[in-house]
Amino acid sequence: MKVLILGGSGFVGSHLTRRLSRDGHAVTVVTRYAPGCKHLSVVPQTTIRQFDPYDEGRLAKELAGHDAAVNLVGILNERGFGGKGFERAHVTLIDCLLRACREAGVERLVQMSSLNAGRGESHYLRTRGEGEARVRAAAKEGWITGTIFRPSTIFGPDDSFLNRFATLLKLSPVLPLARPQAKFAPVYVDDVVEAFARVLEGRHAGKTLELCGSETWALVDLVRWLRDQLSLRRAVIGLPDILGRAQGLAFDFVPGKPFSSDNFRSLKLDSVCSSNGFSALGIEPWGLSERAPSWLEGRGKQARYQHYRRQARRERS
Ligand SMILES: NC(=O)c1ccc[n+]([C@@H]2O[C@H](COP(=O)([O-])OP(=O)(O)OC[C@H]3O[C@@H](n4cnc5c(N)ncnc54)[C@H](OP(=O)(O)O)[C@@H]3O)[C@@H](O)[C@H]2O)c1
Repeated sequence: MKVLILGGSGFVGSHLTRRLSRDGHAVTVVTRYAPGCKHLSVVPQTTIRQFDPYDEGRLAKELAGHDAAVNLVGILNERGFGGKGFERAHVTLIDCLLRACREAGVERLVQMSSLNAGRGESHYLRTRGEGEARVRAAAKEGWITGTIFRPSTIFGPDDSFLNRFATLLKLSPVLPLARPQAKFAPVYVDDVVEAFARVLEGRHAGKTLELCGSETWALVDLVRWLRDQLSLRRAVIGLPDILGRAQGLAFDFVPGKPFSSDNFRSLKLDSVCSSNGFSALGIEPWGLSERAPSWLEGRGKQARYQHYRRQARRERS
């Protein structure tokens, strides 16, 4: 099969590209900046194409001959305010992609969205919902099969979720957290990639599938667990909403927006599944505490001791 991936250079895209290549598929990764894809240049049967993905004509040309398109483009924060950046990345790009698929005769699309798409007050979730609606409308016309994934937060050794909190924990003796009781069901990147592989094989194509890991965590518990794994002595403090909102407003003006008022609004909704799509796909998902210690191990003293203890036990048995 030939699969074209928009946003294939990122965290999930890099895992998916390697997986599809291992399965014997040919992959085209579209990027706005090819030097950022060096890590994929050695993956067999993978072609990197650098161009502006909003250039529909070029996109249609590149899509020709592919069996499926995957859209992994997404942003957690926009440069300005007011939602225009989110609309461009989450809606305009899908419009371009759908028109390009139609022109190129590509009949299968897998769209990465997010839990709670279309709900709540954040521009992120609102535009995610609008993007999904575009895919469903095209599928209703009957010329394309559109599968939509709605994952909770995705984790893996190279994620931006655990790694960002790990960096913050190392930088500061106190970590104040907005929406500390917000719930997540972190989902392991290999499970997400497995779900993509199965849908591309044709299983449950055309469905909207929520994806959650096997454990549900309150944000504050998760960050404290991470702190302990890293053997750091840090205070992790939950902020009441009035301060959490203020934190978001203040970070709106920090370059790179490590947090924002839009993130605060997204966090008002728990990121947990009402029905886990993994069961439909026959995948038993991992939980965070089952997988993450294998790479957090070695990053902290306590984890190292645990590793030695386990090793000693193995040697004795
Ligand atoms: N990671 C998570 O926890 C999580 C959870 C729920 C949903 N998701 C969704 O899953 C998808 C993949 O996540 P990820 O963590 O792999 O994201 P990522 O690492 O940030 O990668 C996303 C890719 O999208 C491209 N991109 C970013 N902004 C763009 C823009 N304005 N216009 C066009 N292309 C743009 C970038 O490719 P180039 O720079 O190479 O062009 C980037 O590599 C995203 O849609 C994300 O929202 C992720």
